[in-house]
Amino acid sequence: MHNFDFHNPVRVLFGQGQIASLSTLVPEGARVLMLYGGGSIRANGVYDEVKAALAGPQSRHTVLEFGGIEPNPTYETLLRAIELVRAERIDFLLAVGGGSVIDGTKFIAAGALLDGDPWSIFEQRAANIHAALPFGAVLTLPATGSEMNSAAVVTRKATLEKRAFASRHVFPRFAVLDPTKTYSLPARQVGNGVVDAFVHVMEQYLTYPVDAKVQDRFAEGLLLTLVEDGPKALSEPENYDVRANLMWTATLALNGLIGVGVPQDWATHMIGHELTALYGLDHAQTLAVVLPAMLRVRREAKRAKLLQYAARVWGLTEGGEDARIDAAIERTEAFFESVGVPTRLSGYGLGKENVEPVLAALEAHRLTKLGEDRGVTLEVSRQVLELSV
Ligand code: NZQ
Ligand code: ZN
Repeated sequence: MHNFDFHNPVRVLFGQGQIASLSTLVPEGARVLMLYGGGSIRANGVYDEVKAALAGPQSRHTVLEFGGIEPNPTYETLLRAIELVRAERIDFLLAVGGGSVIDGTKFIAAGALLDGDPWSIFEQRAANIHAALPFGAVLTLPATGSEMNSAAVVTRKATLEKRAFASRHVFPRFAVLDPTKTYSLPARQVGNGVVDAFVHVMEQYLTYPVDAKVQDRFAEGLLLTLVEDGPKALSEPENYDVRANLMWTATLALNGLIGVGVPQDWATHMIGHELTALYGLDHAQTLAVVLPAMLRVRREAKRAKLLQYAARVWGLTEGGEDARIDAAIERTEAFFESVGVPTRLSGYGLGKENVEPVLAALEAHRLTKLGEDRGVTLEVSRQVLELSV
């Protein structure tokens, strides 16, 4: 196991009814900006519940609102929020939504305190973030883990760029996770969430062994839970236990815990971000396309872990090594398909002609040595993308 330094300060309030705790979680006297997306929170009652909690007898806050943060939140929209934060002297942010709203809030929290163009956060790999406004999150979509991590991904529409940053200053102060608020998710977002969480685990688990037994077994436990409960969330949308297990699994998949002391990959995510920026695929759709092809192309570098994954997640212990690896990758693909997420570019109307622009974007963003061993060169990315058509 490698050395590590682990610190996760996010307070998590989990379970039905926890939104009411906002009345005491948000600091007294705060000037709060409540941030949300395109309106799902109005339709499912979350908006009213949050407002009621903030207006309760113990609350002494001023609450303003900023709606309209889009999926794959854009720099252009977030800049408008930063202007509002400054004009209204906001001192606390409350993100209510999925990963896009929470990521957008992280960018606003840091950007509002920066001099100059906040896009510099990406150019300087967040080294220019020395402080951020405090914020909390009410999660409505289990997928990204953003509610308990310090990363965010923002898209600049003008240049078709999707970039990520991480800073210890943008951990949420708290995250409220009420599984009943996920009942209203459309099937497509349920499937996306399951695939995103699954691939987060894989990026930290399916590399090469370093004898990190707990990290490996935690990772396998998360994968097994997704395999067991992912399809059930689609067939029994109001099964509380299923939703609760999925929600906590997605959070644990990317709150740093399973990634300590182990090599990490993230090549699938980096290629996936370019696919979203160029062609508008949902984040998880890109992962469902890239991951199986990545595992096939990188099977030698990942052989030992692929065999462990085959045995412990899919119960594949019989037959030759190559047959077990093939079967494990096929099972992975079939699982993604079973939660409604196609695993080929052609499933989204894309073809071979769409590969070259992705490679050009990877090169422009200097993403030419990806993966746990920096072995995913542009040539390897090309093989992966061509195999995924
Ligand atoms: O905008 P509204 O109307 O709220 O609708 C949203 C949106 O259309 C809807 N939705 C959310 N909760 C709902 C709901 N609909 C009904 N009922 C509910 N309870 O779902 C749609 C998608 O929401 P979004 O927030 O975009 O999805 P997700 O949570 O998958 O976030 C995706 C973004 O997170 C980034 C992705 O790149 C993408 O930009 N990621 C962030 C990461 C992180 N911070 O660590 C890691 C991930 O790998 C990922 O890159
Ligand atoms: Zn992801």
